[in-house]
Amino acid sequence: MKEMIAVFDFGSQYAQLIARRIRELGVYCEIVRHDTSQDEMLRMNPTAIILSGGPSSVFESEHPRMDRRILDMGIPVLGICYGMQILARIMEGTVEKGKVGEYGPARINVQSPIGIFADLPSRLNVWMSHGDHVTKTPKGFSVLAGTSAYPIAAMANSDRKIYGIQFHPEVVHTPKGLDIIRNFLFTIASCKGGWTMDRFITESVTRIKDLVGDQTVICGLSGGVDSSVAAALIHRAIGEQMKAIFVDNGLLREGEVEEVRALFTEEYPLNFRIVDAAERFIAELKGVTDPETKRKIIEKTFIDVFSDAAVDVQGAKFLAQGTLYPDIIESRSASGGPSSTIKSHHNVGGLPEDLQFELIEPLKELFKDEVRLLGKELGLPEKLLTRQPFPGPGLGVRLIGEITEEDLAILRKADLIAREEIEGYDEKHEIWQFFAVLLPVKSVGVMGDERTYANVVAIRAVTSLDAMTADWARIPYDVLGRISSRIINEVAGVNRVVYDISSKPPSTIEWE
Ligand code: XMP
Repeated sequence: MKEMIAVFDFGSQYAQLIARRIRELGVYCEIVRHDTSQDEMLRMNPTAIILSGGPSSVFESEHPRMDRRILDMGIPVLGICYGMQILARIMEGTVEKGKVGEYGPARINVQSPIGIFADLPSRLNVWMSHGDHVTKTPKGFSVLAGTSAYPIAAMANSDRKIYGIQFHPEVVHTPKGLDIIRNFLFTIASCKGGWTMDRFITESVTRIKDLVGDQTVICGLSGGVDSSVAAALIHRAIGEQMKAIFVDNGLLREGEVEEVRALFTEEYPLNFRIVDAAERFIAELKGVTDPETKRKIIEKTFIDVFSDAAVDVQGAKFLAQGTLYPDIIESRSASGGPSSTIKSHHNVGGLPEDLQFELIEPLKELFKDEVRLLGKELGLPEKLLTRQPFPGPGLGVRLIGEITEEDLAILRKADLIAREEIEGYDEKHEIWQFFAVLLPVKSVGVMGDERTYANVVAIRAVTSLDAMTADWARIPYDVLGRISSRIINEVAGVNRVVYDISSKPPSTIEWE
C-alpha cells in the first residue's frame, strides 16, 4: 500500500515546512485544503493526517473548519497549534482566549513521555505562537505536557492515535521537533519511509502527463537553477511537447548565452530556442538612469518579448515556471488554502493575464535545496545546480547609471576576472554571491607616465543564508589584490577597483 501523509492547510505559512520535514524523514506527503471532504480522504487513503497551524482563531465566525467525519476514519492525526484547537473544538474539549499569548521560545514539561514524546527529555524547548489555548481536553484525551503559563501544551487519545500539540515542531527553534514528527510518523502511524526525490520525479511526471495530454507547454528558461530544473522535469514528462524559450536581454554575464546554449543543446538537450532581444532592451534603456525605471523597463520589455515568442508557438496551452515555495509564501497559499495574498512576487504575477495560458509550477512545494537535489536526480550538471543567484534585470542593475554597449563590455570583462579569481579561492563555497559593479564616476590615475581619467569598478562579495540579510565576505587581501591588478591591467577603461564593505541591511546586495 502506498504511504502518504495528508497535511491539512489551515493557512499557516509553516504548512510547507511541515511537508518538508516529512519529506526529510523519507515519507511522501501532500498538502490539501483544510476543508477537504471525507470522500476525498477515502479516495486519497492517507497513512496519517497532520493539521497545520494557522492565523485564525476558532472564535472567528468564518474560521477555517474541517470535515469532522475524517477524525472517525481511524487514521492517526497530529494537530499543530490551530490544528490542536480545531481538534479540541470538534471533539468537545474547551478552547479559550488566553489573557496573554505565548509567542516565541517556551519550555514544556512532559508529564507522559509516551507516543510523540517517547525517548525524549522531560523538559523541551519549543517554539510557540498562539493566543487561544485548550483549557479542557476532549473526552478520552489525556494531557501529555504543559508550560508554566498553560497546563495543556500537548494532549492525546492514544487509543485513537489522535495527538494535539500547541507548539510548532516543524521550525528549527524547536530543537527536538523533528524527533516528535518522527515519533508520530514511524511509531504512531507505522510509516516505513524510504521516499526519495526519485519518487517525486515519478509522481510529478505522471501528474504533468495527465494534465497536459497532447497539448504543448511553453517554458521560460532563465539559465538559473529553478527554471532549468522545472524544464528538465517537464521534459522528462512530455519531451518535445515542451518548448523552452530563453530571452537574451543583452544584460547577461560574459559567456552566459553560450553556456545556456551548450547546456541545453549538448549536455542536456531540450526543445529550446534563444530569442536574441539584446538590441531591443538596450534601445529601450537608452538615456535612463533611475534604478526603478530601469527595472520596470527591463521587466516590461521581457514580458513583451516573451509574449511575442510565446504567441509564435502554435496552440500552446500551458506556461511552465520554476516558482519555488519561498517565492509564493507571501503571495498565496500553495494549496489554495486560506493564507492568501500578502504580497505578490515577480515570478508569480509577472506575465499578463491576456497571455491566457494555464500555469504549471511543478516546484511550487519545494525549497531551494530540495530543488538542487531534484536537479541532481534529473542529471543536470553540478555547475548549474550550484550557480549563484543572478537578478532578473541582470547587469542592468550592476551598471550604475545609463546603460551603454561600451560600458556593458567593460563590466563583463571586469566581472569575468572577479569571478575567475574568486572561483579559485579555497573558501569560495562560503560566499553567497560575488560580482563586479561599474560605477558612473571616473577617477584620476597614472599608467606608465600617462595621466588617466577612467572608470571605477566595485567588487561585491557577500555571505548570506537566504539573501534577506548579508555580510561582506572577508576575502583574503591577496585574492582582492589579484582581482584589482588584473582588472586594471586587462580591462581598458578602468583605473581603480574598490571593495564594497557594506552589510545588508542597511545596504542591499545589488547596487540598484
Ligand atoms: P538585494 O539587492 O535586494 O538582493 O539585497 C537580494 C537577492 O535577490 C537578488 N535579486 C533579484 N532576483 N529578480 C531576481 O530574480 C530581481 O529583480 C532581483 N533583484 C535582486 C539578488 O541578486 C540577491 O541574491
